[in-house]
Amino acid sequence: MTNAVIECILSRSAAKYYDPAATLSDDQIRELVRIGTSAPTSFHLQNWRFIAVRTPEAKARLSPIAWNQPAITDAAVTFIVCGQLADSSVIPDRLAPLVEAGVMPAEMVPEWEIPARGLYEEHPQRQRDEAVRSGTFGAAAMIYAARSLGLGSTPMIGFDAEAVHREFGLADDELPVMLLAVGAERPGNWAQKPRRPVADVLNLV
Ligand SMILES: Cc1cc2nc3c(=O)[nH]c(=O)nc-3n(C[C@H](O)[C@H](O)[C@H](O)COP(=O)(O)O)c2cc1C
Repeated sequence: MTNAVIECILSRSAAKYYDPAATLSDDQIRELVRIGTSAPTSFHLQNWRFIAVRTPEAKARLSPIAWNQPAITDAAVTFIVCGQLADSSVIPDRLAPLVEAGVMPAEMVPEWEIPARGLYEEHPQRQRDEAVRSGTFGAAAMIYAARSLGLGSTPMIGFDAEAVHREFGLADDELPVMLLAVGAERPGNWAQKPRRPVADVLNLV
């Protein structure tokens, strides 16, 4: 079983070493985020925001609160992938373009909003889980898009979430889900790591 997409997925690995001279244009960064936002989200909440840290000044603000990981300094860009606490009250706004485009009938909007309210309202843990899920899906799409463009990527949890929240002005309902470095690699990155056997991680029921 193989094709170009599967090959892209199978050939990815997390980069450690980036070419510090290689940059990405703001249009290339925008395109990566546009692709990221094609990822699915619960009730089409699209509860995410991406902060592209790409200037030396911004990298210098992020690096000390992210374990001084070399990827932040060297990669063209490090995204602060922010998830937003799931809030059902935004659903009519988020679905309006679907109704406008004729994808969804207007009368269906409450059929999404009402169960979402039941799911998330008064359930802070679920609101937060959804922020992390959405941010992770968005980041994953960007990781594979980057790979398909010949770029390396590094998802990173090695950072001080409170400091990143403060330093980059995240809103009260936002959390930094992960950092995602993207850029041209330089030689020296590890070979791919073997995985646990499928038999150990799959239950066929
Ligand atoms: C949520 C998450 C957090 C990670 N955090 C870091 C990190 O802070 N620094 C780093 O160098 N790698 C980080 N990694 C990369 C992992 O170490 C790497 O994905 C894992 O060892 C598997 O290797 P591969 O991605 O090359 O297949 C992280 C990966 C994930 C998914």
